[in-house]
Amino acid sequence: MALPRLLKHITETRLMPAWRQVYGELDGDLERMLWCLRFSPVRKRTEIASPPLRINAEDLRSCDLFPETMPKGKREGVIAKMDNACAKLNADLPAQERTKVSAKNGMLSIQLHPKIYTQAVVQDILTMKETYGSQGHVHSFIRPHPLSNKVLPARYGHRVLVEYSSPNIAKPFHAGHLRSTLIGNTIANLNKVFGNKVTKVNYLGDWGTQFGLLGVGFRKMGDQSLLKEQPIAHLYDIYVKMQTLIKSEEVATDGNIHKELAMHQQALAFFKSMEQGDEEALNFWQTCCNLSIEEFEAMYKKLGVRFDVYEGESMYYKKGLSLVKMVDEKGLLQTHQDTHVQFAEFLDPKSNELIRSSLLKSDGSTLYITRDLAAILDRKTKYKFDRIHYVVDQSQSDHFRAMFGLLRALGFRWADKPLDEMHVAFGRVAGMSSRKGNAVLLSDIIAEASSRMQQVMNDKETTKITDPDLLKQTAERLGIAAVIVQDLKNKRLTGYNFDWNKILTFTGDTGVFLMYTHARLCSLIRNCDIPLTELEMYEEGAAPLYPLDVLLEPEAIRLSRHLARFNEAVHDAHSKLEPCVVVHYLFTLGHLSSKALDALRVQGEPHQLALPRLALFQCSRVVMAAGLHLIGIEPIDQM
Ligand code: ARG
Repeated sequence: MALPRLLKHITETRLMPAWRQVYGELDGDLERMLWCLRFSPVRKRTEIASPPLRINAEDLRSCDLFPETMPKGKREGVIAKMDNACAKLNADLPAQERTKVSAKNGMLSIQLHPKIYTQAVVQDILTMKETYGSQGHVHSFIRPHPLSNKVLPARYGHRVLVEYSSPNIAKPFHAGHLRSTLIGNTIANLNKVFGNKVTKVNYLGDWGTQFGLLGVGFRKMGDQSLLKEQPIAHLYDIYVKMQTLIKSEEVATDGNIHKELAMHQQALAFFKSMEQGDEEALNFWQTCCNLSIEEFEAMYKKLGVRFDVYEGESMYYKKGLSLVKMVDEKGLLQTHQDTHVQFAEFLDPKSNELIRSSLLKSDGSTLYITRDLAAILDRKTKYKFDRIHYVVDQSQSDHFRAMFGLLRALGFRWADKPLDEMHVAFGRVAGMSSRKGNAVLLSDIIAEASSRMQQVMNDKETTKITDPDLLKQTAERLGIAAVIVQDLKNKRLTGYNFDWNKILTFTGDTGVFLMYTHARLCSLIRNCDIPLTELEMYEEGAAPLYPLDVLLEPEAIRLSRHLARFNEAVHDAHSKLEPCVVVHYLFTLGHLSSKALDALRVQGEPHQLALPRLALFQCSRVVMAAGLHLIGIEPIDQM
């Protein structure tokens, strides 16, 4: 829990003097503990009557905000003293004050009266607006650490490189790439919230024998104008036809002497000419890449995704050779007697595992891992990242294990981080197809989502929108939100079955439901006769005409308690690199908001009731929008 006003209340008003009295002798420790309190996520829930603020001793112990230099014994001592002191503190509090403090079994618990609680939450959100739960929010907690004088909590202010999406040119943009795009985008956003400098990299598979196939194929069956109009689909079409052609040659020759096949041979020759710098071949390759990137960008834009840098494997096939030299100089390179493949054999200093990894093919050309190694060294020099996240399908975990192992064996200490932080892996998606078939093109998925959504809206007459263009636009945005949420609501490593019928419903845990809730809140705010400026009364420093302490219905308390936990969800999602934490937070926010919307009328109520309620709903809207933005969705105002 990290609510400034709430904590201000605790630390600077009633409780603080009492704390000071009890803890007088602790001075620095007390400061630090309260500092920790401001950051520690609160896990335990209790009954709604008194929204609690609980800090677990375990949290305090493991809290990365305790200075590393503090001896463990001393830490335990502080917690024990806290336990004792709370008993005394409680005795000092006036009996009629329902705010209670206790510390049992190392659990510090502060229970506030709902009046104080809901007010504090609403005022915080209205004051911070869009920055609530985001960088601005976090900033408002930043004070120098009392002991270490460090201003920033761990994970704050780092240079972070997130590599995601990374599709292959001329091969399909499959469900795995979509997952990487969505998870990576959220991880990048979360890192920004925590004040990190984020570089978003898309590493295109733009090199390899598939270009040989395309080069030869395009000569045979290519169409310049089709290439311009729909490069991805056209190139993919050629790729598939060429593969079939090669297969049929294989069958014709009983699958033997694969290497003698004319088409395959030609393709290899074409790719070789690219590696040797043949101008015509390279021009063709460059055109394919440029046109594909252009088309990708249009799709990314619809998904609300933007990259800082496009890299490609092609940038690293030459640099890969220097990497191999480095491996050789370390004495880790060997050549296979029969195949002439060159490989590294090494002990990973971290796991002590013996790893063997091929680096050069028999013809001396580089492999996927060789290029990846060259790329990461280049990035380290260029971006000086403190952390790197590769958001890639879990089927590539051996690849990353070998890659980071080799970096460690080469003596790069920065590669000594947990593998699951550097390789942000995810499970498989099944059944993502469009009416056109199974080969998923991202454009088909977006078009399909949009047209199905429009159908749903028309059939169910759920829309008030009459302008056909706006309807189409809204349907597209809803469809995309549905696809995004369906994907991100699952834990990364859990695979899932994609199901069009399930994702487009207005009720239940879907993206459409989240968008619908946002639109419903917007329409309430639009349609009541209270101008939004009235709500400014509740902002910092102003004396509200109508106090907020009427928000005492269970629906209001439940909602405000959940609103107060947004920061916690963001914190959790960030530290676990799990977008689903934010998504589930939003589902609950949606459900609590709709319950509150049903129970707490605004229209037709007297101002002293309507205004505080409206303020609460405005908070819901602000947090819903902030959460949707985090997962890459632009909320809609009406539907
Ligand atoms: N293009 C690759 C694929 O589609 C993914 C690249 C992942 N990133 C990396 N640095 N290896 O399988």
